Amino acid sequence: MQGLSEHDVLAQVRKAFAAVPEAVSFLAEWPQLGRHRVLEPATLPVCRWLEAMGPGGVIGTIKAAAGQMQWRQTYGAGDFGPDFLQGYGWSEFIGLRGPLSSERIACGILLLAPGLHYPAHAHEAEEIYLPIHGEALWQQGQGDFAPVPVGQAVHHASWVPHAMKVGAEPLAALYLWRGGDLAAKSVILGSQT
Ligand SMILES: [Fe+2]
Repeated sequence: MQGLSEHDVLAQVRKAFAAVPEAVSFLAEWPQLGRHRVLEPATLPVCRWLEAMGPGGVIGTIKAAAGQMQWRQTYGAGDFGPDFLQGYGWSEFIGLRGPLSSERIACGILLLAPGLHYPAHAHEAEEIYLPIHGEALWQQGQGDFAPVPVGQAVHHASWVPHAMKVGAEPLAALYLWRGGDLAAKSVILGSQT
């Protein structure tokens, strides 16, 4: 992701989070442009669901840049099974691995396929999710799964377990991380069954 498309994506992602009160302190850590890391583009099976998204809004801008982005997975087939890997992936915009370098925050996008169950997991980083396409049921701790529409943020405190069940449309959600190891793999607490 280079040049104008990267600046467009970063500007629109920051603007989207600017409407989220819980994100104010994260955005204070937003790095300066120019701390740039050149990444090889990489795609994943889950990227096929971008076809159904956009063309407008922040997801439309990300979709247009998706072919230049590095799409990655933290989990392996031994974590939630091989089917999960067909419907899961993320790409980082800011952080220890993304094109814009930061040791203070991570920011990226998560894609999940329709019907996917992302079992309970937890991580040290405090996290804010902002769904930008589709609708999923979200769970925190032992609470009930509840729908979160596009534009409504979800805030996970450090080490609070969370899980998602995606509805009939693929889910795209922006995320912010702060604290702990910004490249840590989540601790798995639940299973697909
Ligand atoms: Fe999380």
